[in-house]
Amino acid sequence: MKFTLRIWRQDYARSSGRLVRYVVDGISEDMSFLEMLDVLNERLIADGEDPVAFDHDCREGICGMCGMMINGVAHGPQQATTTCQLHMRHFDPNRAITIEPWRAKPFPVIKDLIVDRSALDRIIEAGGYISAPTGSAPDAHAIPVPKADADDAFTAAACIGCGACVAACPNGSASLFTAAKVTHLGLLPQGQAERATRALNMLGTQDALGFGGCTQTGECTVACPKEIPLETLARLNRDVLTASVSVGRRNVRP
Ligand code: SF4
Ligand code: FES
Repeated sequence: MKFTLRIWRQDYARSSGRLVRYVVDGISEDMSFLEMLDVLNERLIADGEDPVAFDHDCREGICGMCGMMINGVAHGPQQATTTCQLHMRHFDPNRAITIEPWRAKPFPVIKDLIVDRSALDRIIEAGGYISAPTGSAPDAHAIPVPKADADDAFTAAACIGCGACVAACPNGSASLFTAAKVTHLGLLPQGQAERATRALNMLGTQDALGFGGCTQTGECTVACPKEIPLETLARLNRDVLTASVSVGRRNVRP
């Protein structure tokens, strides 16, 4: 198959970018989207041109590195699928494909399709450690966890930190990401000691980093390749409200 691509090219964060048209040939329907970009880059390198910079690592849908906007949709048209797991059979060769980086103020473009998502790491850091005894790990069944809580915690822990929720949100909010990180510890016994301060610190850091506020549009959960559910946001709001009453702001780091 042959595809026409319109790809965002930008040399560095403060330079201006532009969409550049490319035609890429010899694409099989079984190739992943990133493999299609590999074919384009091999040709660009052979022609002495600058290859398109894009992020990737595992190419198995688990590391969260590969996000990009494909025809205006975070991670492209296939629900619950990261860009690296998306295949070219889902695209019509007669229609040009527009490829852009995540667009959000806290995610500055580094080059082409690569953005700096380290703001998400700052939110996780703000969550701090859990208080747990040192020494050898206890047996897994030593602390009883209700099945429903274990399932919900596992669902939240599936977040891979890709940032698609931020890119899809009209407010540029990271609330689904933050909610997932708060929830997967907050539902488990080991996460209780710092549950209140963790929720306040992570949400406070998210706001301080310039992410927008959540207005529950639900775009985040639709774009999420790990299908983190919307009720995760309700858990975050409940934890923050409870923590605001029980802790106030006295233990919250700036
Ligand atoms: S909540 Fe979903 S979309 Fe947001 S960072 Fe986690 S995996 Fe990605
Ligand atoms: S490259 Fe790891 S999730 Fe896509």
